[in-house]
Amino acid sequence: MRTRPLKVALLGCGVVGSEVARIMTTHADDLTARIGAPVELAGVAVRRPSRVREGIDPALVTTDATALVKRGDIDVVIEVIGGIEPARTLITTAFEHGASVVSANKALLAQDGAALHAAAEEHGRDLYYEAAVAGAIPLIRPLRESLAGDKINRVMGIVNGTTNFILDKMDTTGAGYQEALDEATALGYAEADPTADVEGFDAAAKAAILAGIAFHTRVRFDDVYREGMAEVTAADFASAKEMGCTIKLLAICERAADGGSVTARVHPAMIPLSHPLASVRGAYNAVFVESDAAGQLMFYGPGAGGSPTASAVLGDLVAVCRNRLSGATGPGESAYAALPVSPMGDVVTRYHISLDVADKPGVLAQVATVFAEHGVSIDTVRQQGKDGEASLVVVTHRASDASLTGTVEALRKLDTVRGVASIMRVEGE
Ligand SMILES: NC(=O)c1ccc[n+]([C@@H]2O[C@H](COP(=O)([O-])OP(=O)(O)OC[C@H]3O[C@@H](n4cnc5c(N)ncnc54)[C@H](OP(=O)(O)O)[C@@H]3O)[C@@H](O)[C@H]2O)c1
Repeated sequence: MRTRPLKVALLGCGVVGSEVARIMTTHADDLTARIGAPVELAGVAVRRPSRVREGIDPALVTTDATALVKRGDIDVVIEVIGGIEPARTLITTAFEHGASVVSANKALLAQDGAALHAAAEEHGRDLYYEAAVAGAIPLIRPLRESLAGDKINRVMGIVNGTTNFILDKMDTTGAGYQEALDEATALGYAEADPTADVEGFDAAAKAAILAGIAFHTRVRFDDVYREGMAEVTAADFASAKEMGCTIKLLAICERAADGGSVTARVHPAMIPLSHPLASVRGAYNAVFVESDAAGQLMFYGPGAGGSPTASAVLGDLVAVCRNRLSGATGPGESAYAALPVSPMGDVVTRYHISLDVADKPGVLAQVATVFAEHGVSIDTVRQQGKDGEASLVVVTHRASDASLTGTVEALRKLDTVRGVASIMRVEGE
């Protein structure tokens, strides 16, 4: 056992950072035994130094994060500030000054993961980020290491707890979107500005990270197709129920059937109640992985919160410290496959389309013709009349997103189609 401690700089001491510091203190003996050396909190960088931080020695607190990472005696930098800058510069500076890095920063990794990995490799250091996707759930390491000998074909997950809480509320209580969002805000599940969550930005960053690791290919945030969930209505849930489905905001990363390309997307989708992801309730996260040899795997747990996220950060800290002691580094970026990322139009899936149409003879035939002309085959049609108007719900067989888009454009031009009430993809069948 080495007695000289490994020195850790903590950048950020908010929701996650404060829990990281707490666990480092309360579990110090176990961490020492598991790593093979003590770990010492050598400095804590924050924005507001005067804020009272329970359990943190005020002498360790600084507003000069740059000076902290440049000290030269830091073994591991834990970055839990978030955002692009100054986090990016601090991480690269940390590598330049000999430290390995543990980060929870999905936004930065989805945007600049390749450059950060390159910097880590150049300096012979580790970059670990288990906490960046799905909080406490072990996912990055299983994909990077446990499944490294398998071929992953699809990763489909609920990776944002706020949106799952809202959709679950709508499903179980019949509430509308705004009502469910208000409750999520009141209970602290949604931020005052919920845009990053409800518009799918947060999930898209995670999808980029997951797709990159799963397919050994660089996938950036901008490569991910994204649709938010603010348009989902109580009527969509009623329609989903009639089909034996529920609605979830899903991050879906897929290898094309011919293996020659990949796609990554985030959007609301109907999934059958029999699918394991349908039973993920409240703010929980889950990721369903399909691979050649292992088959189907499901990873489930709390996807956010200070303590669960700190669990993932501490796991990385132990791994990185062990590497430092053995003079090794863990797996870096694996992007050798370099598969092209296809646009959304190439995605093939099923669709649920709800149309408001005139309630008169021949409408159904007209609508069916438009689908046929665009090569989209219809699975089921349900029609409900009301005062000269009718709603027509069409569920398709598998078709490309480009064909479906063409179909919908043509449907909008029909005199008998008053409007397209909703279009939703149907996944997991
Ligand atoms: N919260 C979660 O449940 C969760 C889950 C998974 C991943 N994450 C990720 O974890 C990271 C941190 O999230 P969080 O929720 O802990 O954020 P947070 O509560 O807002 O904490 C951010 C911390 O960074 C400090 N900070 C901000 N700008 C700084 C600067 N320029 N220099 C030094 N320190 C600075 C803040 O200082 P002050 O304390 O002085 O304001 C604060 O301590 C983010 O990347 C986030 O995406 C969070």
